Amino acid sequence: MRIDVVTIFPGYFDALELSLMGKARDRGLIDLHVHDLRESAHDKHRTVDDTPTGGGAGMVMKPEPWGQALDGILPESEDPLIIFPSPAGDVFTQAMARELAHEQHLVFGCGRYEGIDHRVFDEYAERGRVRLVSIGDYVLNGGEVASIAMIEAIGRLLPGVVGNPDSLVEESHESGLLEYPSYTKPAEWRGRRVPDVLLSGNHAAIDAWRHEQSVERTRRVRPDLLGD
Ligand code: ADE
Repeated sequence: MRIDVVTIFPGYFDALELSLMGKARDRGLIDLHVHDLRESAHDKHRTVDDTPTGGGAGMVMKPEPWGQALDGILPESEDPLIIFPSPAGDVFTQAMARELAHEQHLVFGCGRYEGIDHRVFDEYAERGRVRLVSIGDYVLNGGEVASIAMIEAIGRLLPGVVGNPDSLVEESHESGLLEYPSYTKPAEWRGRRVPDVLLSGNHAAIDAWRHEQSVERTRRVRPDLLGD
């Protein structure tokens, strides 16, 4: 999958050189290109923002640098999807991650300040596919952290990125339930024992216990997921 990111803080994306995402890039499974929006701003101070038309607090990102940056990226593929992280967007879920993992080319446009001049969304929605996506009901300082979260959630679903695909199946949200608690050795730590059933070797009993734990945890922490 090709992923382009446009941001005024390219350094945030250094995190994607680490761990599984870094390995996936080294192996050519994820082709990530990070672009500094200021390289598309041509005045002396490389200005990317201005005061809101009509008044109000804060600053709004100017359309011209966004136009130049996106026009340079979009011809790289047939049918790219541009995602603008925004608290005003559709909420990102595991189901959306699965859907987006089928895309050939994602472009993340990271807004800052009070957001991006709305004509940028209109321009690219008319020319192709654009989505505003929120990672939750809270406000971040910009789209960078939200993009990293989405890139990781999508990237780990690409074939070959996670070594053992079985580990994708039993995770929280994949089945609609939260994951059951996990334990490793030693069997006793600070007087706390691993539940006996996990030491029993009885796989049917272990599966049943884990399922019960998932249902109980989901009912307690996220009853909304059960729809009751
Ligand atoms: N930008 C600021 N807050 C955000 C959020 N919750 N999700 C996505 N992008 C954002």
